[in-house]
Amino acid sequence: MDGSRTVGTPPVLILLGPPGAGKGTQARMLEERFGLVQLSTGDLLRAAVASGSEAGKAAKSVMEAGGLVSDDIVLAILRDRLAEPDCAGGVILDGFPRTTAQAEALDQMLAETGQQIDAAILLEVDDVKMVVRIAGRFTCGACGEGYHDTFKKPKVPDTCDACGARQMTRRADDNAKTVMSRLDAYHEQTAPLIAYYADKAVLRRVDAMQDIAAVQDALAALTQRVMA
Ligand code: AP5
Repeated sequence: MDGSRTVGTPPVLILLGPPGAGKGTQARMLEERFGLVQLSTGDLLRAAVASGSEAGKAAKSVMEAGGLVSDDIVLAILRDRLAEPDCAGGVILDGFPRTTAQAEALDQMLAETGQQIDAAILLEVDDVKMVVRIAGRFTCGACGEGYHDTFKKPKVPDTCDACGARQMTRRADDNAKTVMSRLDAYHEQTAPLIAYYADKAVLRRVDAMQDIAAVQDALAALTQRVMA
């Protein structure tokens, strides 16, 4: 893998970075702008928890404690989602892979369909500031649009700009104690992927301490180059 893309295969982008780095915020914007599908393993796992499935029951307590859900569960969920027809035009992976075993399994899955990773984009942030970002986060329960008490307020309080619903929700794992565990899990189990993707010459870096619009511009420019 040398970083140049194979013509005719759907793009595969990975957003890497700790909790609060802006993976979800930016993936939604890239999805709209480039017609790619955002695959968030966090969202897929929260849906499994809400559905009460066996996988969801196993994931619930791990997520609430801020640890990583087992590779077996995550890979099964991701494999099923990747096989759905809407993913045929290309995907942005948000929150996956998170362990070396997941990264190796992804390489294998993509090889089976002749695809490869076009870029693993690291959103570089200062950990200390992530607690404030996460503590202020809320989401539209109807359409999933994300907001922040300070950095991204809805135009009308408690009303989603995107769909007009008044169903804002806050995540159960968005509290200071769990965030620290999530940051530890990131550094212990996910940060090694930075070297993994650097070795494959697909690692790209973006300064994600800039404001949301500036990060978006940097990511859009990078994505345009990668998809060219
Ligand atoms: P997941 O849902 O993936 O959470 P996370 O990785 O902890 O990431 P977050 O969603 O907290 O942060 P984000 O980077 O998306 O930030 P956001 O854009 O929302 O995972 C949750 C749990 O599921 C895990 O802990 C684990 O248990 C499990 N899990 C998931 N995937 C797994 C896997 N592959 N393997 C094993 N377990 C897995 O931004 C945060 C806030 O900041 C928002 O309010 C936003 O408006 C604001 N903001 C964003 N960018 C900026 C900016 N530039 N300036 C100011 N504010 C900003």
